[in-house]
This record gives sequence, structure tokens and C-alpha cells, in this order.
Amino acid sequence: MRLSRYYLPTLKDTPAEAQIASHRLMLRAGMVRQSSAGIYSWLPLGLRVLKNIETIVREEQNAIGCHEVLMPTIQPADLWRKSGRYDDYGPEMLRIVDRHERDMLYGPTNEEQITEIFAETVRSYRELPQMLYHIQWKFRDEVRPRFGVMRGREFLMKDAYSFDLNSEGARLSYNKMFVSYLKTYERLGLKAIPMAADTGPIGGDMSHEFLILADTGESEIACHRDFMDLSLIGENIDFDGDLQPIVDRFTAKYAATDEMRNPETEKQLGDQLITARGIEVGHIFNFGTKYSKPMGAKVAGPDGHDVFVEMGSYGIGVSRLVGAIIEASHDDDGIIWPDAVAPFSVGILNLKSGDAACDQACTGIYDTLRTQGRDVLYDDRDARAGTKFADADLIGLPWQLIVGPRGVKNGLVELKNRKSGAREELSLESALSKISE
Ligand SMILES: Nc1ncnc2c1ncn2[C@@H]1O[C@H](COP(=O)(O)OP(=O)(O)O)[C@@H](O)[C@H]1O
Ligand SMILES: [Mg+2]
Repeated sequence: MRLSRYYLPTLKDTPAEAQIASHRLMLRAGMVRQSSAGIYSWLPLGLRVLKNIETIVREEQNAIGCHEVLMPTIQPADLWRKSGRYDDYGPEMLRIVDRHERDMLYGPTNEEQITEIFAETVRSYRELPQMLYHIQWKFRDEVRPRFGVMRGREFLMKDAYSFDLNSEGARLSYNKMFVSYLKTYERLGLKAIPMAADTGPIGGDMSHEFLILADTGESEIACHRDFMDLSLIGENIDFDGDLQPIVDRFTAKYAATDEMRNPETEKQLGDQLITARGIEVGHIFNFGTKYSKPMGAKVAGPDGHDVFVEMGSYGIGVSRLVGAIIEASHDDDGIIWPDAVAPFSVGILNLKSGDAACDQACTGIYDTLRTQGRDVLYDDRDARAGTKFADADLIGLPWQLIVGPRGVKNGLVELKNRKSGAREELSLESALSKISE
């Protein structure tokens, strides 16, 4: 993409309404614009990041045999009356009346919708287990939408649902999702810690929130120091095999959010304990037959008797992740994108647009990189070098190839790594091979 022809409405000044770094930077980098409280339009740069995150989330769901569907945003109130949640949900639900005076709502989540589909289409235990997901906008009329896309009213969520014949099966589905979430966050460049969450009246140990540590997080968390060294990197995971040992490894040590914290345990842990603030980026939950019973989702079991299916739901805050990644990875100059989600992987900064040698060198690099299938942003604007440096850092391009008249004369370019800040002068070939490593 040539920046001179791109739509990148960056802001010079820090918007006054933005209280945290990610919100400030998303507005300054021209990623989003607020429409009304907690509701945003996504501009080209922001949308690229959102789509990159969505793709990783989708790939990891597909990899465990979870099938993608797409359910509507608008749902009939009657569906929620069946589960009893129409009255329970309260003012967070946006209620709508259509022209025929039918009560509708903008879905805050989709348990009812998916349970109805399942109840109408699956009859026998032989069709189980089943896992379905979609990536769809949700609306929750939050009392206090804030922090930009982190706590929005309209937000993009991946929500998955599992259906099993019995609780043993439900645990297998839960474990698949649990490990798949760990992988998803690792691919996004994040360290997300699974923390036991409240299971309410359902009970049991099958509810976890995944949190990343950040000073601006809304939850106060505490966890064992060992979580900092836990990872799946390099492991070849067989999702059809026994995942319990991995789940055990990630749940053996203490990790808790606000209301789940235990002062006694924390005292014992002493300096093994980390207390911090965290951002919830995912939540998985087994709720047994809570929805299948009232909504009649049953199958004929092996003995011919009908059984209500055991269900779970599994959410990832896709749009929140854009902000969360920035909270975890930025500096005073701007965003530092992990490679996997960067809107463009490489920037080319032409320090003297209009100079024939510089233009020719840059166009050559631009074409080469594009032929290699790289997403490149070529800053060919007629602007000062300082502006180009500042914008490339602000929007967080992981690699920046800086091309100026002096270097071009000697066949050299400067390569900057956004994360480390390291800059080195290299031959074009070495620079190109370095960014493809
Ligand atoms: N208002 C919101 N704005 C952005 N993302 C949200 C919002 N509410 C929830 N999410 C994301 O969706 C995920 C699943 O939501 P869920 O656990 O049902 O919400 P909650 O934690 O509010 O009960 C959360 O882990 C979070 O990442
Ligand atoms: Mg939650």
C-alpha cells in the first residue's frame, strides 16, 4: 500500500477523552472513530488488525474441530423467555420492537439461539460431541462504557458452544477449548493466564477466565510467579489425545481474580506471589443442562432414553483484544505490534520522495516485498523525514526500511526494528533476508 493513497487519518494531539494508552493510540493512529458512547467505526488500519486477530482465533477454533456458523445479531425475545433470561438480563439488554409490535433484542450473547438450533436438528447421541462457534457483534448496554474498544457497548466476540452426552464428554470439550485458548493467545503474542472463575449455582471447576497483565486492567489479580515461565511453545499438541496433563499444568498453581482471591493462600505464597491488574480476554464456562433443559435440547442416548445435553460456552473478546494487545505492547512513541497481528509487517520510508534514485530504490523494494506476499506500507508521501519516522512508530510497523539519498548512493538501507529500537545500515539484500527470518 502506498501511504500517499491510503486512508490513514492520524491525529497529532492526544484526544482528551482517552484515559488509557490503547484508547489514545487507537485514535491517534487512525484505527477507530467513536460513533457514540462505546460504539466505534473501524477505519482501514484498525480493521486490518481486527481481521488479523479474527483469523488467528478462527484458525485455532477450526483446528480443534469447532465448526463456524453465523447467527444473527437481532434475536426474538421469545427465545429468551424460554430460558428465563429475558427478564433476568436487565438493562444491559438492548430491547427493540419491530413494526409488528414483536419484541426483539440485539443479542448480548447466543446461548439461547444455538440451543434452539441444536434442539431442532440433533436427535441422537451418535451425532455428539459437537462444537460450533461464530464471530459476531454483540451489544451490551454497559453502564459505563470506557477505555475505547476495551469496554464497549457494541463489540466483536467469538463465542463457541459445546454439546456432549454426559459430563465426561463435557470435560473433554472443555479441555480442548482450554488448550486451544492458550495456543490462540500465544499466537497473538500474549501471555494470558487462566484463572479459576465463579461457576455460580452450576458448581464444579470448569470455568476459567483468561487474563493478561496490564496496569490498566479492570480486575485485580494475584497469581503464582511460575505462570510467567509457563508456555506451550514448541509443544506438538494432539487435540484428540489426553489434554488433561496440559490443563493440570496450567491450573496447578494459584491464580485468581477479584472475588475468587484467597488471602490465606496468598499469605503462604509470600514472595512467590504476583499481584497485578489484568484484562479479561476470554472466558470459558461449562453450564451443564442450564439451557438444554428449559429449551428441550435432548438426544436419544445409547439405551434409547432421552437425555438433556451437557453444554459449555467459550468466549473471546476479539475487538477488546486489539486494545489489550496495545496495553501490553507500546511505548511513548506508539504501538509495538506483535508480528502476527501487525496491520503491515514492513514499512518503507522514503526520506526523499521525488528524488529519482530514492523513488526507484523504494519502488524496487516495494515490488520485491509484495511479490514475496508481504503486507507493505510504503511511505511515499511528500513529507518531512521526522513525520515519517513518527508515523511509522505510532502505527507500530514491526520492521522499517529507511531509504535516503546517501545510502542509496552506496547501495545501503537502514533497517529499524520497532520492538528493540535497533537500527543498522545494511545492504538491501541483507536487510531483506533479515526481515524474512
Ligand atoms: N463490553 C465489552 N467490550 C468488549 N469486550 C467485551 C465486553 N464484554 C465482554 N467482552 C469480551 O468478551 C468475552 C466474553 O464475555 P463474557 O465473559 O460473557 O462477559 P463478562 O465478562 O462481561 O461476563 C470477555 O472475556 C471479554 O473479553
Ligand atoms: Mg467474563
